[in-house]
Amino acid sequence: MANEQFQTARGTRDVLAPESWQFEAMRRLTAEWAGRFGYDPIETPIFEKSPVFLRVGESTDIVQHESYRFVDAGGDDLTLRPEGTAAVARAYVQHGLANAPQPVRLFYFGPMFRRERPQAGRYRQHTQFGAELYGSESPLADAEVMLLATRVVDAAGLKNPNIRVNSIGCEVCRPRYREALVAYFKAREESLCKDCRVRIDQNPLRLLDCKVDVELRETAPDLQDFWCDDCRGHIGQVMATVERAGQTIRRDRHLVRGLDYYTRTVFEVGHPSLGDQVALFGGGRYDGLSASLGGVSAPAVGFGMGIERLLSALPQPLPTPESERVYVAHLPGLDQEAYLLAMTLRGAGLAADADILGRSLKAQLKDAGRRAKWVLIVGGTEWENDTVSVRNLMDGTQEVISQEILLEYLRERLQGDRA
Ligand code: HAM
Repeated sequence: MANEQFQTARGTRDVLAPESWQFEAMRRLTAEWAGRFGYDPIETPIFEKSPVFLRVGESTDIVQHESYRFVDAGGDDLTLRPEGTAAVARAYVQHGLANAPQPVRLFYFGPMFRRERPQAGRYRQHTQFGAELYGSESPLADAEVMLLATRVVDAAGLKNPNIRVNSIGCEVCRPRYREALVAYFKAREESLCKDCRVRIDQNPLRLLDCKVDVELRETAPDLQDFWCDDCRGHIGQVMATVERAGQTIRRDRHLVRGLDYYTRTVFEVGHPSLGDQVALFGGGRYDGLSASLGGVSAPAVGFGMGIERLLSALPQPLPTPESERVYVAHLPGLDQEAYLLAMTLRGAGLAADADILGRSLKAQLKDAGRRAKWVLIVGGTEWENDTVSVRNLMDGTQEVISQEILLEYLRERLQGDRA
C-alpha cells in the first residue's frame, strides 16, 4: 500500500483505462451534439479572480462553503472554478460578445471543484459538459438547451430522461412570492431545521428543496400562484416546445436550484440509478448575470451535466474505437512484419497493437485476449501466400484473408461489431 500522503486527495480520483476511454468517448459525443446544435467550444481558465464567483453566489453553499479559494504568492485572491456559467459570463463580457452576431452559443467540457462531503456521485473534482446560450429571451432558447442535454443523454444510452422544470419568476413576481414564503415559514420557524433557519433570511426559496423539512413545503405557497403573465406564458411555451420535440417534461413545484443567478426557468434531470438527491444535469435561465459582471444586460440560459454521474448511470459502456483493437501477432522471426502491418492499420484509421516484448505466439495470443477483439497472425504458409489469418476473439472463428483486401475486410467487420 502506498504512503497515505502520496495518494489522491479526498474526493478526487484517477481515471484509468478502460474508464478513461469512456471519458474520451463522452468528450467526442458531447462535442458532436453541441456542434450539431450550433454551439462553439470555449475554454476558460480553471481558476478565476474570486469576485467572478462571489458575485454569482454570495448566499449559496457552493460559493460560501465549498469553494477552493486561495491567495497566491503574489497576493491575488483566486478561486478554482466551482462551475462554468460565471466563468463563461465573465468571458462573454470581457470579449464584448454582446456585439457579436446573436445568439452566441458556447459549450465546455472540463473539471469543476467543490469541497463537498464526498459520497456516492459527489466528488471534490468533477467533470462537467455545459452549454450556455446568450442573446435570446425566447422560450425556444430554454427548450433548445434542454433538448441538447437530453439528446446527449439519450445518445449515450440512457433512454427517455425525464425533465423536471419550474419557473422561479422574475423581478416583477418573485418579490411577492418571496414575501409570502417568508411569512409562511416564519410562522413555523420552530419546526425548521438549523440550515433552513439561516436560509429563511438569506435565500428563502431554498427552503422549498430542503431534504429535511419535506412536510412543511407541501403546504407552502406555490410559485405558480404568483407568476406574472409573462412568466406564466414563458414556462408554458418552454414545456410545450420540449414536448413537441418528443421529450417528456413535468413541472416540479419544489425545484429551485442552488445558485443565485437564476431567473424564470430552472430545470433538472435525475436518474433512478443515481438516487433522488443527485442530478444528471441541471440548469436554467440567468438573464441578469452578465450585467452583474459589469457587462450589458443579456438574456441567457444553459445547463451543466455531470460526466461521472452520466457514465455511472449508463446501462452499458459506450463503444469506443479503442475497444475494437486489432492485435497483430506473429510467428518467430516476423516481429518486424507484424510491427509494420500494425503501422499500416493505424495509418488506415484502425486501432492496432503488436508485440514489442519478444513473446511467443502463445503469449501474444494471451495478451491479445486482454486488449483486443481481433487477432491477425503473421506467419506460416498463409503469410507466404500473401494472406493472413484473422481470428475473431469474441466468437473464436478464424478466416484466411488476402492481404490485398485485409483493410476492407477489417473495416467491414468492425462496423458490423458496432451495429
Ligand atoms: P449544478 O447543478 O451545480 O449547476 O451542476 C451541474 C451538474 O454537475 C449537476 O447536475 C451534476 O450532474 C454535476 N455535479 C455538480 N456537483 C458535482 C459533484 N460534486 N460531483 C459530481 N458531479 C457534480 C451548475 O454548475 C450550473 N453552472 C449549471 C448551469 C449552466 N446553469 C446555467 N448554465
